[in-house]
Amino acid sequence: GSAGRLVVVSNRLPSGDSPSGGLVVALKDSLQRTGGLWIGHSDKGDTGAGSLSFHQGGGFGRASFTLNGAVYDNYYLGFSNTVLWPAFHGRADLMRIAPEYLQAYRRANSRIAKLMIPHLRTADRIWVQDYHLLPLASELRLQGFAGRIGLFLHIPFPSLADCAALPNPADLFEWLSHYDLVGFQTRRDLVNFEDCSSRLSRVQRLDDQRFRLCERKLRVGVFPIGIDSLGFMDEARNADIEDRMRSLTYSSMMIGVERLDYSKGIPQKFRALQTLLENHPELIEKVDLLQVAPPTREDVSAYRDIREETEHLAGRINGKFATVNWTPIRYIHRAIPRNELAGLYRQARVGLVTPLADGMNLVAKEYVAAQDVGNPGVLILSRFAGAAETMQSALIVNPHDPVEMAEAMHRALEMPADERRRRHLALLQEVLEHDVGWWSSSYLATLG
Ligand code: UDP
Ligand code: G6P
Repeated sequence: GSAGRLVVVSNRLPSGDSPSGGLVVALKDSLQRTGGLWIGHSDKGDTGAGSLSFHQGGGFGRASFTLNGAVYDNYYLGFSNTVLWPAFHGRADLMRIAPEYLQAYRRANSRIAKLMIPHLRTADRIWVQDYHLLPLASELRLQGFAGRIGLFLHIPFPSLADCAALPNPADLFEWLSHYDLVGFQTRRDLVNFEDCSSRLSRVQRLDDQRFRLCERKLRVGVFPIGIDSLGFMDEARNADIEDRMRSLTYSSMMIGVERLDYSKGIPQKFRALQTLLENHPELIEKVDLLQVAPPTREDVSAYRDIREETEHLAGRINGKFATVNWTPIRYIHRAIPRNELAGLYRQARVGLVTPLADGMNLVAKEYVAAQDVGNPGVLILSRFAGAAETMQSALIVNPHDPVEMAEAMHRALEMPADERRRRHLALLQEVLEHDVGWWSSSYLATLG
């Protein structure tokens, strides 16, 4: 048929069997209904294969591409995670610029476009996800695709200083100019985009949502991503029932859940816990922090450094404060399945989401969705998480200030039930109203 399909492209292809994340839940219907396709990388298969490989399972069409190992490393570990990720998270000091990174990034995107072209129809709409694939629209255009292409950037858009630190910053705007729609997480990201493009590229504002960028028309918009809120609430309630049957009880557990990434502010959180225990010694043996921090991008040196720092600090704080019966930090360097996390969030009196920079932060939304509405815990949220723009009923903190964070922890632990319920209700309404279904349908309606 000639009806347009939805074609989603991301670096990671969702797997066919493991429990699916919010993004998959949100896009599954549109993919199924339009007979669409999700395209992503796979490390299995023949790297010389001149075509996409199609996979069974998952409820919608899935196709993968492979890349030569060295190209993949320079594209994924190199340009994506040693140049773009640090610069876009305010850590240009952690960038390592090498010409082979940019070259492989372009080559990877050009190859992905080439593999896609034979499978595309004119009426298809292509939705590109995230920073690994910024040049994909320009490559698809070059290779003749004239249909709609949108991009959603899941991570922050950098400030002018960090943008200017990129190799060839003008490239970024040239890449973006080939999209019909670029979606950002927050107003702040859109402001940074306007600021950077006006200083580092050729841009003219046409109206509120439209620019002329590098001689092409581009629409932009703010679409804060959400979670599968109802699904997650169910998950948490079910986990709760299971735990009651096992009659587990925790006194005052605080929880942190994030990949072991330097953008997440884990050492700052640990130092704030230390300040809390110093300033409020009555909390010793009464409160603890469960920190789930699975490994990520371990072949990049900045990630090895943050692991060293985190583990050193956890050991030092535990050594200093632990008693025979208690340790302040339980640190888990493994991933925990999302359905188990739901139960842990529900047991935690405090959710600690304190990144130094974060596109949105879904853990903040999951923590809220998981609470018992009659007796909810308290969310402590960094002002630097994208989520802070719409979750103002959390206790908003500056993660660089250990005393302020420690006082927020103290306040959260002491907070009366009526204030906890009032804050939680406001947050839950937001999480329910702006869930991942709202996010994908408003984005796709704007893409047209
Ligand atoms: N997550 C998980 N197991 C873990 C740690 C994290 O399933 O051990 C999930 C978490 O529930 C959330 C996602 O990974 O859905 C992390 O998303 P977020 O936006 O918070 O951070 P990101 O990793 O995308 O920077
Ligand atoms: C962030 C990025 C995603 C990425 C995820 C996990 O959420 O925005 O694009 O997939 O982190 O990182 P990884 O490098 O393991 O894919």
